Amino acid sequence: MRFPTLLFAWATAVLLAHVVADSKFLEANFYKQTCPQAEHTVHDVVRRAVARNPGLAASLIRMHFRDCFVRGCDGSLLINSTPGNTAEKDSVANNPSMRGFEVIDEAKAALEARCPRTVSCADVLAFAAREGVSLAGGIYYRVPSGRRDGRVSIADEVLNNNVPSPTDEVAELVASFKRKGLSADDMVTLSGAHTIGRSHCSSFTQRIHNFSGEVGRTDPSIDKSYAAGLRRQCPPSADNPNDLTTVPLDPVTPREFDNQYFKNVLARKVPLTSDQTLLTSPHTAGIVASYAAAEKAWRAKFVTAMQKMGNVEVLTGHEGEIREKCFVVNHH
Ligand code: HEM
Ligand SMILES: *[C@@H]1O[C@H](CO)[C@@H](O)[C@H](O)[C@H]1NC(C)=O
Repeated sequence: MRFPTLLFAWATAVLLAHVVADSKFLEANFYKQTCPQAEHTVHDVVRRAVARNPGLAASLIRMHFRDCFVRGCDGSLLINSTPGNTAEKDSVANNPSMRGFEVIDEAKAALEARCPRTVSCADVLAFAAREGVSLAGGIYYRVPSGRRDGRVSIADEVLNNNVPSPTDEVAELVASFKRKGLSADDMVTLSGAHTIGRSHCSSFTQRIHNFSGEVGRTDPSIDKSYAAGLRRQCPPSADNPNDLTTVPLDPVTPREFDNQYFKNVLARKVPLTSDQTLLTSPHTAGIVASYAAAEKAWRAKFVTAMQKMGNVEVLTGHEGEIREKCFVVNHH
């Protein structure tokens, strides 16, 4: 009996050592020694920006999500296009709808003044998103850090099996999150972020003016009076990504980070197909109903899911670099 036990202990030790060597670990308070004011500095800049323009809180949360889903949470979304390369931020999925890059750049400049080449842009974005959640909903969570910045940002990668589309059905959304190591439960939980913020008409116009390719038809799964309101706010002429008309993602409590989103999905008063479709699978519909009934449970799950999302394919250790400016990779 002793030999198999020893063998088991040895195998476990080898396996553990392997897992430790291979995994990527972010750490709580990673900048404690090297830049103790890092998180505070980011929060300060975000707080001032959101005081001027409350809509930025939503955009910063969305920005972190969009960064994590393309090459992991590596700040690739923040890089500007160059003459030879169209970057993620200029994909039709992000431009012009994604706002707030200047807030990240300002926070990074403040950090470079205090602790040059120390805090990654990927971490600045994760801290900024957390502050967005905190300002909008009073939910505060720890953001483990130590992410490193990527050097590659390619517009064509955004919609190519990475960022989900607002016209996706539930199976596609589940598959999209699964590719990033996130569950269907995580997907529903995180979709609750659509309790704040706005959508451009172009993200759902086919649903209200041209459903199933029939001009003039509206998706019958939308509540009738809500659909009529959407058609008024978003006439067919607004079907253009450069049209700046927007509607709230949560028509009931558009500025509160609450569980109203899930109640809206149940009431069929949400603009995006990707929101309404959560009712079409028994599993995701059950999660929607449970969050609509229990706000506290959703808030707790939201925190865990954000932390999990913040870990997606991160670069750590000596991988990547610490960018000096978030909008351009370092020169070598
Ligand atoms: C499940 C798949 C998802 C899809 C298909 C999706 C799609 C969209 C779309 C189309 C918009 C409107 C953009 C516009 O037209 O301006 C939007 C906005 C937003 N999304 Fe998502 N989203 C998803 C998941 C998430 C996740 C996981 C988060 C964060 C945890 C998030 C946070 C936000 C926020 C806060 C806004 C409002 C942005 C603003 O007001 O500027 N979304 N999303
Ligand atoms: C309506 O949808 C069909 C099929 O998706 C598309 O080919 C057509 O261009 C759309 N028409 C308008 C006016 O958007």
